[in-house]
Amino acid sequence: MRRALVLVAFSSVVAVTVAAGGRRQDTVSELLDRMTLAEKAGQLAMIHVGVVRSDAQLADVLARDQVGSILSGAGETPTSDASPRGWAKGVNALQRYALAHSRLGIPIVYGVDATHGFTWLRGAEVYPQQLALGAAHDPALVEQIAAATARVVRASGPRWVFGPVADVSRDLRWGRYYETFGEDPAAVSALVAAEVRGMQGADAEHPVVAATAKHFLGYSQPPGGVDTAPVQLTQDDLQKVFAPPFAAAVKAGVATVMNQHGWVNGTPTVSSRPLLTDLLRTQLGFQGVTVSDWGDVENLFCSCQGAPAISHEPKVAPDYEHAVAAALNAGLDVSMVPERADDFVSAVQAAVRDGLVSQATLDAAVGRVLTLKLRLGLFDRPTVPETAFPARTAADVALSRRAAGEAMTLLRNARHTLPLARRGPILVVGPAASNLAWQDGGWTVGWQGVPDGGPTPPGVTVLQGIRAAAGTRKVRTVDWTNLAAVRRAARVARAVVVAVGEEPYAEWQGDTKTAALPAEQRALVRAVEATGRPTVLVLVAGRPLMIADLIRRASAFVMAYLPGSEGGSALADLLFGRIRPHGRLPFTWPARIADVPMALNARLDGEPATPLFRLGAGL
Ligand code: BGC
Repeated sequence: MRRALVLVAFSSVVAVTVAAGGRRQDTVSELLDRMTLAEKAGQLAMIHVGVVRSDAQLADVLARDQVGSILSGAGETPTSDASPRGWAKGVNALQRYALAHSRLGIPIVYGVDATHGFTWLRGAEVYPQQLALGAAHDPALVEQIAAATARVVRASGPRWVFGPVADVSRDLRWGRYYETFGEDPAAVSALVAAEVRGMQGADAEHPVVAATAKHFLGYSQPPGGVDTAPVQLTQDDLQKVFAPPFAAAVKAGVATVMNQHGWVNGTPTVSSRPLLTDLLRTQLGFQGVTVSDWGDVENLFCSCQGAPAISHEPKVAPDYEHAVAAALNAGLDVSMVPERADDFVSAVQAAVRDGLVSQATLDAAVGRVLTLKLRLGLFDRPTVPETAFPARTAADVALSRRAAGEAMTLLRNARHTLPLARRGPILVVGPAASNLAWQDGGWTVGWQGVPDGGPTPPGVTVLQGIRAAAGTRKVRTVDWTNLAAVRRAARVARAVVVAVGEEPYAEWQGDTKTAALPAEQRALVRAVEATGRPTVLVLVAGRPLMIADLIRRASAFVMAYLPGSEGGSALADLLFGRIRPHGRLPFTWPARIADVPMALNARLDGEPATPLFRLGAGL
């Protein structure tokens, strides 16, 4: 009787299996039949590796609590050795421990963020951030980058990548703007699908790694641009703006979907049945695993985790048991707990025992997790070879350079300033001219970007790129904070490249009210422009900044986005005419902050406004 129930509840999951379908169904059903309630609860928990370090923690998390998945939070590595071998050994060690302590031999799955390369791997290529790839508007390129990233992720041990970001940019004040592919739902959809294909590979049944479309849904339009603030969406926007990229991901076979942290239309997303079941599963036809974002289930009853805005929301559950029940009944499978496994698994067990969650709901969720592990080959080959492999290859570098070059968006070119003249000295100046951390942006080596004094990923700065490409031309630089020196050097230059931008940031720490260029950087640009020398203004930033006046006075203006490791070479390629300008703005560039939020060339509040640059602009 119980088995029949399981099979009915499970029929939608096993429907995805074709070739190995029969066997997989049997395996999953047999496992479910034999698993205890505690073992099932463990499969729904994802714990971050930072709390699975000591022997005692390993015993608690993997032996006692039977946790089914481990993640690296941003910047975390399984051991202190972030080399390719170090990663493989670290993930393998956790896997071996888990298998040795799993009565039924169920492997763990290890998950990581890798939306612009696998940057937690020492020496890995840092590809352009998604917004830059939106400007490059080249699905085949995105697919290649995703495939290259998936290769190193898989060789390092993890088999689950929390990307692509399928959010549609709506408000440039939001600190996660640069993580999106832009604001055109159709264009974003095409790139999301390409990234899913690249990550998961050609064999739909056996993904190289599982991709995750995140963050479901409507995350990118928080009032005031405040990360995780509650969102109100019209049905029209929900269906026409925010759902299409997820629909495209599902169509491309995405294995998993992550809910967004915040609330939509009065309900936390993680406990929203209209979103997680009615929209995602029934309407869009998703059959894979849903995973919460960091701490979302806990946040239903306490302000324990995450962004400040979320902690102000009312609590919808009196305790953990009811929080878990609300999420599971809404359609959540895996909870990124991510710290207290014991509390979570106890809560799941209590919720089932007390009848708040049915056995069928639990089994359907656990069944989907087991199916994912089977598809990823974890039962057959749970570990990876611990041989050294290159974190990046010459092909990766070339791919990244091409991508950054395709992204660079030329928005102004008065009197044919570009390509730069063949003769005469060039002055390259500005804080973004010699700063890989700025080029790379957040989610690179560390959560808030490359940590000060930490290991710097490989790459070519703007200055280095220009020097390498300049041939016999002299390339000078001076301390950008010394404006007198800047003026002197500018006056004798044939052209000045002034590179300004934003410091790296991630999530709510990148929220802004002004999107202004800091005053010292404005002063630098004005000083250079006032010399009257041909000035190429370059912006290295994750969003459009409010610099209309500076752009108008510049001879040429290039939006470089966050172009990653090869940003300097790619920019030089453009400046010296080695590549033709190709990038197109993946967003509307408002003329003033008062017009924000603005998307698709219009203010979202309907007031008339003329953008500085329209969506798709690019010479
Ligand atoms: C972010 C997700 C990310 C997760 C794991 C969360 O705070 O919102 O995008 O995948 O952390 O690092």
